[in-house]
Formats: sequence, C-alpha cells, structure tokens
Amino acid sequence: MTRIRAAITGIQGWVPPYILTNKELEAMVDTSDEWIMSRTGIKERHILKGIGLGTSDMAAEAVKALLEKTGTSPDEIGMVICATVTPDMIFPATANIVCDKTGIKKAFGFDMNAACSGLLYALVTASKYVETGTVKKAIVIGADKMSSITDYTSRETCVLFGDAAGAILMEPTTEEVGIMDSIMHSDGSGRFYLHMKAGGSVRPPSYETIDAKEHFVFQEGQPVFKFAVTKMADVAAEIMARNNLKSEDISYLVPHQANLRIIDATARRMGVGTEQVMINIERYGNTTGGTIPLCLWEWENKLKKGDNIILAAFGGGFTWGSIWLKWAY
Ligand code: ACO
Repeated sequence: MTRIRAAITGIQGWVPPYILTNKELEAMVDTSDEWIMSRTGIKERHILKGIGLGTSDMAAEAVKALLEKTGTSPDEIGMVICATVTPDMIFPATANIVCDKTGIKKAFGFDMNAACSGLLYALVTASKYVETGTVKKAIVIGADKMSSITDYTSRETCVLFGDAAGAILMEPTTEEVGIMDSIMHSDGSGRFYLHMKAGGSVRPPSYETIDAKEHFVFQEGQPVFKFAVTKMADVAAEIMARNNLKSEDISYLVPHQANLRIIDATARRMGVGTEQVMINIERYGNTTGGTIPLCLWEWENKLKKGDNIILAAFGGGFTWGSIWLKWAY
C-alpha cells in the first residue's frame, strides 16, 4: 500500500510594520546594543501597535496571504491549529477567531500551547490528521504577540522578544517528501524557570498580581540557556542519527530563534556549516511560535523539492523537539 505523507505545500509570514531597535531599548532600560548583540544576536524586533489588535490579527494576515498565494479556497481547509502562548483571550481558541477573520467555515480549530516548540508540536499533530486522510488540507499557524506579555522595564526579557505570525499549508502526498520523522519531548519540572506567574487558575488576575508584574514573561535566563543549548542540539543530532542522515545530506537546519549562541551550538553538534542554517534572529528577535515559519518563508525561494530540512526548537514547559522533512516543492 502506498504510504501517505503530510507535506508542506505553502508558507507565509507576516510581521507588523513597527520596528523596535536596540538603540530605542537603550533609552528604555539599562542595556546596550553591544550587550544585546553579543549575548543574543538580536538587533531589532517588530512590535504590533494599535488598540484592540492581537495575535489573531497577525495570524489572519498570514493565513489570508497563504490562501491567496496557494490558490486555496477557505472552504477547502479542514483543520486549523494555532501554536501560541499569547492567545487573544484564554478562550475561545485563537484558531477559531482566525477562522472567522479569514472566512474558513468548514474547519475545526484549536490552539497548541508548547511555547517556543509550539509550531513543531502543531505541525506533528496536523500531520497525523493529514497522513490518515482525516483532513485533506490543514493550516498550521505559529503566532505570538510577545509584546503583550513583555515587561518593558525589565532588561532581562524586553530585549529578547518580538511579534510575528506564520502560516503553513499541509496536504497529503504519495511522493517521498513531507514530514519524514519527528521527536518531541517535554519536562514540566522546567516550568519554574520560564513561565507567566498569574492569569491562570492558580493565580487569577487581581490588583495584587498586576502590581507584582506577574502577567509578564518570567525567565531565569541561565538555567533555561543550559537546558536549551543541550536539548536542542541533542534532539537534532538524535533525529539525524536514527535516520542515518549525515551533515552533507542536510540542506538546511531551521532552528527556533531564541539566541544565536544556542543556534550555533546546535549547528556545531550537527556538523552543518553556517550557510546551511536559517538565521534571521537579528531582525525579528524571539517571536516564539513565529520563528520557524518566518525562516521557511524567507528562505522559500531558495528551497528545492527533496531538500532535507531539520527543524529544531526548545521552549517553555520545558518543551523541545525536532522534525525531519523533505521539502515538497
Ligand atoms: N542588558 C545589559 N545587561 C543585562 C541585560 C541586558 N538586556 N540582561 C541581563 N543583563 C545582565 C544581568 O543583570 C547580569 O548582570 P550581573 O552579572 O551583574 O548579575 C549579566 O547581564 C549576565 O546575565 P545572564 O542572565 O547571566 O546573561 P546570559 O548570558 O545568560 O544571557 C539570556 C541572558 C540572553 C536571556 C540567555 O540566558 C538566554 O538566551 N537564555 C535562554 C533563552 C531561551 O532559549 N528561552 C527559551 C525560549 S523562550 C519561550 O519559550 C517563551
């Protein structure tokens, strides 16, 4: 029997126009362009401005452009997953709001919360529906308005994050392309190092939680760095080893863009050169669910059918994982 695989058949990114530079941050907190560049590799990030605009607005822009560029009617979409940690609201799911804003009426949709690994979790989940024939066309979104949970008086976190959305179209194929293998991990004991303290059921919003700035990202950078640098490299090396992939077989590594030093360590471990690594952290910062689709979107014209691509991510949870895919067009 012919095996059906789930292939990426379209990719689209969207970033808001406003650019927050390191120079501007220097005027807001005690930091410097030199510190930010040397410790993270980030030069600027895009920020969504405008009252009443949220993650779904960025995601809807990406989805509308994706449908148009791939000649897909909204009625053909059977499933929408939105990977985000900054949903428009706790419920309903942002995926449902995006469907409403883009005219997608025949799909079921839900959100995926796996922080910076969310896009990978969502891709793997959608691929199972596509591979089994349950869904013919799925859209996977990675979108975050990180500026909505960033404390712009905290130099530890405000230099790191940006806002963006990416949308991926997935369809079945009988060719030897698409998602070939995946490895996903999580370890909830890492939650103490990277989280948002209030706003959930344990600490519902109150004047006290707002005064204590508990509705912002809290991160202990060093322990997260240590875990991220090891786990992202380990899982990328593991997926190569179990599929007998050598570094020369890899066309591109697409790493989550949290820190240039973590990306470099992962590339070194895989034995791939810098020309094989998609890096755009300098212009966007860490856009959480958005980083991997933004990379694929920017490199789309360079990709060739059959290219071996390794996606790798690490994020809050802790969550981490890797996907091996063969580019389908
Ligand atoms: N400007 C200037 N100085 C700063 C800044 C800043 N923006 N931020 C921190 N510092 C200072 C600290 O106060 C500290 O000063 P001290 O030595 O006087 O105490 C010093 O710089 C070093 O701070 P560290 O936190 O040790 O710096 P580090 O080299 O670890 O870099 C960073 C911090 C960039 C956050 C790094 O730890 C990191 O990238 N961690 C991992 C991030 C990650 O991968 N997160 C997962 C994904 S995010 C998600 O899932 C939502």
